[in-house]
Amino acid sequence: MAMLAELTHRCPLACPYCSNPLDLKTRAEELETREWVRVFGEAADLGVLHVHLSGGEPAARPDLVELTAAASGSGLYTNLITSGIGLNEKRMDALADAGLDHVQLSVQGVDEQAADRVGGYTGGYRRKMDVARMVRERRIPLTVNAVCHRQNMDDIHCIIDLAVELGARRLEVATVQFTGWATVNRQQLMPTRAQVAETTAAVELARRRLKGVLVIDYVPADYYATYPKACMGGWGRVGLNVDPSGKVLPCHAAEMIPGLVFDNVRDKSLAQIWYDGDAFNAFRGTEWMKQPCRTCERREIDFGGCRCQAMAIAGEAAFADPVCAKSPHRYLVDQAIESLGVDFVEADFRYRAAPERTR
Ligand code: SF4
Ligand code: FES
Repeated sequence: MAMLAELTHRCPLACPYCSNPLDLKTRAEELETREWVRVFGEAADLGVLHVHLSGGEPAARPDLVELTAAASGSGLYTNLITSGIGLNEKRMDALADAGLDHVQLSVQGVDEQAADRVGGYTGGYRRKMDVARMVRERRIPLTVNAVCHRQNMDDIHCIIDLAVELGARRLEVATVQFTGWATVNRQQLMPTRAQVAETTAAVELARRRLKGVLVIDYVPADYYATYPKACMGGWGRVGLNVDPSGKVLPCHAAEMIPGLVFDNVRDKSLAQIWYDGDAFNAFRGTEWMKQPCRTCERREIDFGGCRCQAMAIAGEAAFADPVCAKSPHRYLVDQAIESLGVDFVEADFRYRAAPERTR
């Protein structure tokens, strides 16, 4: 099991596809150090092996080193998901000493101009290049995470080269998922069919060329797929998210589903929430499914796809993911693709906002 620990929603960047909710938590709402420490212990007892220290920007928390040490001390494999902003030599040393196992560094583009425009933060690209060096020098395994979308997908070959240049062992080419802030920028971000085909081919080619050098994880554009992805590996099956205020969610976007009640680690133990929480049991297993999922031979492969996408597009979370060719709502996905038009000009993003942007 893996736990995404959203330590804060504060972030110096303002990516227009941020997976954080539109209603961001403030600093005053965040869990305190001792509360996170307890949660890490409870996670380890529950069977979590892998914790993603994420945000927002986790480095915005002054206690990041202490939290990393606590997670590591509980026996969890620690992955820091970061933009790099807020890390320096001294802090990297402290994180390495605290037992940090892995760093996942986001890149928004392949040059300064493109990256800083998407991230909404001048100087961000240069800082990231420097942080990659710091990670490399401390021999901490590095993953480069590149969210791909209409405005950077044509650079896929350069993105792959950049990951090699930075000394990453793994590259995540993740096509933008339309949850959180990406939903309000769909028109600007949705890749074309041709871009998706080109990216898939480029990834396949690079996987062969870079065997033994770079592992490439590829999250394809599900809008163009025949079947949906098994979002979260199935609801309440192998993953959970804890938001900055301690609310425990089956996925990062679950709050968009009306009627679900989310428990908080301030009130209950993680085990109680995982096993008995209403939200976790709402779509666990296959009992909740309607047709066509209920009798489909893929129901334990993709678990009906993504509940949040079903909610956002088809209007009900218990429907089949509308990406699925068997879904009666597939036409809505096709309409969304068609509405892209061909005369696209680089449009302005609606950047992610935050009540407090930490710089
Ligand atoms: Fe998956 Fe449901 Fe489609 Fe079957 S019908 S492939 S279970 S989304
Ligand atoms: Fe919530 Fe897929 S993003 S289930």
